[in-house]
Amino acid sequence: MQDIRTNQQRLWDSLMEMGEIGGTEKGGCCRLALTDLDKQGRDLFVRWCEEAGCTITVDRMGNIFARRAGQDDSLPPVVMGSHLDTQPTGGKFDGVYGVLAGLEVIRTLNDHGIETRAPIEASVWTNEEGSRFPPAMVSSGVFAGAFDLEYGLSRADLDGKTMGEELARIGYAGSAEVGGRPFKAFFEAHIEQGPILEAEGKRIGVVTDAQGQRWYEITLTGQESHAGPTPMPTRRDALVGAARIVDLVNRIGMEHQPNACATVGLMQVFPNSRNVIPGQVFFTVDFRHPDAEVLARMDQALQEGARRIVEDQRLEMDFEQIWYSPPVPFDRDCVASVRQATESLGLSHREMVSGAGHDACYISRVAPTSMIFVPCEDGISHNEAERAAPADLAAGCDVLFKAVLERAND
Ligand code: GLV
Ligand code: MN
Ligand code: MN
Repeated sequence: MQDIRTNQQRLWDSLMEMGEIGGTEKGGCCRLALTDLDKQGRDLFVRWCEEAGCTITVDRMGNIFARRAGQDDSLPPVVMGSHLDTQPTGGKFDGVYGVLAGLEVIRTLNDHGIETRAPIEASVWTNEEGSRFPPAMVSSGVFAGAFDLEYGLSRADLDGKTMGEELARIGYAGSAEVGGRPFKAFFEAHIEQGPILEAEGKRIGVVTDAQGQRWYEITLTGQESHAGPTPMPTRRDALVGAARIVDLVNRIGMEHQPNACATVGLMQVFPNSRNVIPGQVFFTVDFRHPDAEVLARMDQALQEGARRIVEDQRLEMDFEQIWYSPPVPFDRDCVASVRQATESLGLSHREMVSGAGHDACYISRVAPTSMIFVPCEDGISHNEAERAAPADLAAGCDVLFKAVLERAND
């Protein structure tokens, strides 16, 4: 058992095959949540799991659980997993790695005819990215009771299509209740999505915590008018107000270093015509920090600063914080399992705090949970150039295998 390793080539080949679904010219992946491509990715995962002897359950948020029976199938399962949806210009590894590493663990157990005392499951969580349907991690959030089902199903994209409608359309509105399934433990393997492991030459990130996040939606309203005859001093230009708030967001991020992150990533300008002064602008803000108190100070600075700007520009503002995900400490025993597995495999490692949000953040509210990080090239993610080395991905999968096996048999 000590010498068993997962199959690096099979894991890599599966990642590459999944990456073809929505594959982009630049070598990345665009597989937005609940699109036809997401359906194709889900179908492929389900087929692979059925071929590995698993039984499939889909819940009403479209979360998928592929179960390999245990010797005592009445015990709660040890669950692995992550997400298959990507950003519009995403990579082949963010999320997908954690899902297919789970499948690779199951395939390796099958190769060696190993039975586990508790069942083992590989899971897929719907719409982790929150790119098409904000907020992020919404379906693991419903599972963990952070949101109710109605809230989850009613999340809408920019065209007004809801998650409930799109789940039904692609055939993944399952019948299982969301949540209420006890997990013995939950482990999520993921690429780091930052530069630390690579810079330090470390193989494995033993993830102890995840930072908190606040997401906002802001609409500024001024007055559309002609770009020629309207004198500068009389204008109520919503885009000028938005530009000043973008600068404010960036300054707040810089003022709360070393750990704060502050981003405006989405903006819509109305009517978006080159010779009309913009009358309305909709944009988003993403704030992150590992310390909830600092995140609250950033929130206050944004609210006060934005109010001053709109007064100054004579604009109206609709300001809404649409999501707060507090900092998460992962389960100390699960973290210890990951550390032990890493050490017993002789892999270099360091402890780290996750900068990104993950389904593990919500699952940690209802099950002992932790994460395993592996390096990615130049720390780049949410980018088509996202890359990870096959040997690093396999090392993380070996750690997952060991940690899961230990938990399933204890
Ligand atoms: C999810 O990818 C996030 O925004 O952290
Ligand atoms: Mn991810
Ligand atoms: Mn992501």
